[in-house]
Amino acid sequence: MRIVLLGAPGSGKGTQSQLLVKAYGIPQISTGDLLREAVSQGTELGRRAKAAMDSGKLVDDATVLGMIRERLSRPDAAKGFILDGFPRNIAQAEALQGMLADLGTPLDSVVLMNLDLGILFKRLTGRRICQECGKVFNIYTSPPADGKHQLIQRPDDKEEVIGKRLEVYEAQTKPLIQYYEAAGLLHSVEADADVETVFKSIERAALPRTVAGS
Ligand code: AP5
Repeated sequence: MRIVLLGAPGSGKGTQSQLLVKAYGIPQISTGDLLREAVSQGTELGRRAKAAMDSGKLVDDATVLGMIRERLSRPDAAKGFILDGFPRNIAQAEALQGMLADLGTPLDSVVLMNLDLGILFKRLTGRRICQECGKVFNIYTSPPADGKHQLIQRPDDKEEVIGKRLEVYEAQTKPLIQYYEAAGLLHSVEADADVETVFKSIERAALPRTVAGS
């Protein structure tokens, strides 16, 4: 199964990717996570990416495509993958199509996670991450049950950066909806529901075909 989760910042791509990993045993490939890892390790790539990420802009295509090419070539991606946060613009989508054509493994499905702007904003401002275990919480919808977690906020989840990220999504990522619709790959799901309900919608909308054909 080779799928893309497409959606605005905060629409639940990372949360749903985790459930798909557990259910189907294929890796989540999140360009955001790979970039944050590079930033926290202080690599050259991380230093280059940090300014764009902190201001809510996209990191340059060459950097992101290099990272994706390397990640897709690892053995665990041969059995399938969930792309989370990639592609982010038409140039990245075209490059991905080329890479997968070379590997002879085209995409099975693209899932668009639909969510209203107001809810996106609340999900992003409320998100907190445990810096010890990496678990994602939300102070409004899913706070930790105990005081054992050391919660931090992503620098780009500050109100002043969220506006820019949503603007970038509208201008650069939204055109992918039409791109994948034209390719016959797009499935939309309503992401304004509890986590399990959204997961079932994804399975219903996109997975029967891909699981059967994987
Ligand atoms: P990235 O990390 O990809 O961020 P994003 O796309 O903005 O998405 P988020 O991680 O913010 O949200 P999500 O949809 O995963 O939601 P989540 O499940 O966490 O990118 C960060 C930056 O890296 C970019 O701005 C850019 O600079 C750079 N970058 C990344 N990829 C790039 C690329 N391809 N090209 C160039 N630059 C790139 O959920 C959010 C919150 O809601 C959580 O608190 C969660 O608990 C809660 N929640 C989730 N689902 C539900 C639900 N059903 N009900 C209630 N609460 C829920």
